[in-house]
Amino acid sequence: MQLQNDLLLRAAAGQQTERPPVWLMRQAGRILPEYRALREKVNGFKNLVENPELVCEVTLQPVRALGVDAAILFSDILVIPEAMGLPYQMVESKGPWFEQTIDTPEDIKKLRIADPEASLRFVTDGVKLINQELAGKVPLIGFAGAPWTIFSYMVEGKGSKTFSKARTFLIQHPEAAHQLLSMITDSTIAYLKAQIAAGVHIVQLFDSWAGILSPQQYAVFSMPYISRICDAINAVPKIVFAKGAFFARHGLSELNCQVIGLDWNMDIAESKQLTGNRKVLQGNLDPCILFGDKETVKKETIQMLDAFGGHHIANLGHGVYPDTPLDNVKCFVDTVKAYRY
Ligand code: CP3
Repeated sequence: MQLQNDLLLRAAAGQQTERPPVWLMRQAGRILPEYRALREKVNGFKNLVENPELVCEVTLQPVRALGVDAAILFSDILVIPEAMGLPYQMVESKGPWFEQTIDTPEDIKKLRIADPEASLRFVTDGVKLINQELAGKVPLIGFAGAPWTIFSYMVEGKGSKTFSKARTFLIQHPEAAHQLLSMITDSTIAYLKAQIAAGVHIVQLFDSWAGILSPQQYAVFSMPYISRICDAINAVPKIVFAKGAFFARHGLSELNCQVIGLDWNMDIAESKQLTGNRKVLQGNLDPCILFGDKETVKKETIQMLDAFGGHHIANLGHGVYPDTPLDNVKCFVDTVKAYRY
């Protein structure tokens, strides 16, 4: 279907646009009262994620409420560990929790490569419904976790400040680590291909825990797997967001992808230089700016847009925090939409 608003896709393709497109990581979720009400009503996160009608509804909520230039599929990166054989729970106000974890190389034998046809139909059915409902209004972003980030959750079994158990696994069992990363990579390729076949227009890989590895470890345990995914996915543009991987910006710019996401620790001018204008950049306002007053939100947003100066997709430097004042999220979106190069 012809898109009415294809600004995101034009920007991702490296075209000069009249203004940057804007969307927010975690736009579908707790910032919206209608999301919180629905999650309450169905008794929890997983009951939303696993129901295609509700996936569709929650994906559309921010498009209606905020007027963003893209929808992002409502799901979670943790559906991949589950489809590989490690089910997760989402514990209210605590986060993800896995009953079983990967503690030893032996544990990997219990896992399988994810088969999206068999276990991720709720996602692909959701994508089809979303596109029907969107009727070409804006593009739909699909996503997956990068293999290193998924590996971290499979080993730790929950969130962690240091992810020391995951990093220790790399030291004690490097070969098994590569075997598991490779299985996650194959699962992710199959999963993204299924999302694309169902209708997503662009995909983002989230390497949320990129920044806890050394540059050398990143080059060995994360980048090659991201690279394999980028090479396998060619039907739609790709965004790679490696949170905290300031040391990898040059390397990331050589991947077979169109867009690199930046977090707010990354200087914009320096990032442009390191990526040598080979990539469109996405980001990178500190989500905490949205807790300032309106003048601050406007001023900081415009300053960021000026600093990128083109070939840019406006976003925050990480997901929007759940308690952010909705008015300020709107102010951020409206400021970008009023901006012209
Ligand atoms: O709007 C969107 O961005 C789409 C939906 C989306 C969710 N998770 C829904 C969600 C996306 C893209 C994700 C990705 C995700 N999930 C990442 C990568 C992005 C990042 O933030 O770095 C990670 C690391 C996860 C794993 C995860 N899921 C954690 C650590 C948590 C708990 C922390 C938190 O934010 O609550 C989740 C839960 C989760 N995923 C929620 C939502 C809306 C909140 C659940 C709730 O309703 O209470």
